[in-house]
Amino acid sequence: MLTKIEPFCGESAEKAAEILKNGGIVAIPTETVYGLAANALDENAVRSIFAAKGRPQDNPLIVHISSFEMIKPLVAEIPELAKRLSERFWAGPLTMIFNKTSVVPDVTSGGLGTVAVRMPANEAARAVIEKCGFPLAAPSANISGKPSPTSAKHVFEDMNGKIPLIIDGGECDVGVESTVISFNENKIHILRPGGITAEMLSEFADVEIDKAVEAAPDPNERVISPGMKYSHYSPRANVFVVNTNGEAFIKFRESRKDENAWFLSRGDYGSGFVNFGETAEIQAQRLFKLLREADENSVETVYVETPDKSGVGLAVYNRLIRAAGFKVVDE
Ligand code: TXA
Ligand code: MG
Repeated sequence: MLTKIEPFCGESAEKAAEILKNGGIVAIPTETVYGLAANALDENAVRSIFAAKGRPQDNPLIVHISSFEMIKPLVAEIPELAKRLSERFWAGPLTMIFNKTSVVPDVTSGGLGTVAVRMPANEAARAVIEKCGFPLAAPSANISGKPSPTSAKHVFEDMNGKIPLIIDGGECDVGVESTVISFNENKIHILRPGGITAEMLSEFADVEIDKAVEAAPDPNERVISPGMKYSHYSPRANVFVVNTNGEAFIKFRESRKDENAWFLSRGDYGSGFVNFGETAEIQAQRLFKLLREADENSVETVYVETPDKSGVGLAVYNRLIRAAGFKVVDE
């Protein structure tokens, strides 16, 4: 199959919607990462997403909507807290888990009785959903296990020959996937950190962070969010999180003899370092791109100065330790 990349405009959005209406799959930009979209209510279309990504069947997909009206047939009820959060954070990088209705096929929800819903802010994503008139299931448009795509080029690397169309909306603003939350009585439970931070959510209710966010999942325990149990976001290069900062990280580099390594630093540390970004927001934008660039440059090992875990930094840390397969160097 020939895979076309077309810049976002009314015409390309129309073309994407036509493919989706016919049960096909298309890659679209969102403000977080690029998504691989299909009609969320069409079992066969959703199955082709799993096939293109090589994704385990029990890992549920997020259902994307473009208006609040669209959520109503999908969910059994909308808790008051969810309503308030939607008023504040939708459209945007927040995904909420609800009890689902039978309108949502089991393939979409990975066999769970719940469904994850998000309203993206990206103009192209919204235009395509509106033109379709049905919600779109869209996981990140990478091969399962690889770093998520933050540009049309990244999608092409993973999906060339497997899908007919990639809508190019430029580089993603946030760079890491949406925050995924569920509700535990009146508490907000963060399953996956993202652009909507724990600090922002805590203005609305008590927030608890799932223990799988910062640690390797216990193989003997059931994981609430199936996506958190797989090794993830991994380039070919061997990634290590180095638990030091500033001067100590500079010394760490001097102590290494690796010929073919990158040292990702939290700022411009001069030659021998790759600047990962001063702020968590910039690190989030650059993370997946840098991991892919490491592979393009045949880098063997990537050492990353541990990010600050506050704000969006928690999302950066969460993706990074998974990319590293939980390998942390304590110096
Ligand atoms: O920003 C995003 O969320 C992007 C863009 C394309 O919108 N999408 C994305 O989808 O990251 P995906 O499939 O790569 O990640 C979805 C995550 C997985 O960790 C999955 O396990 C979790 O959400 N999830 C989906 N439905 C769930 C449910 N019903 N209960 C618990 N976790 C769920
Ligand atoms: Mg993903």
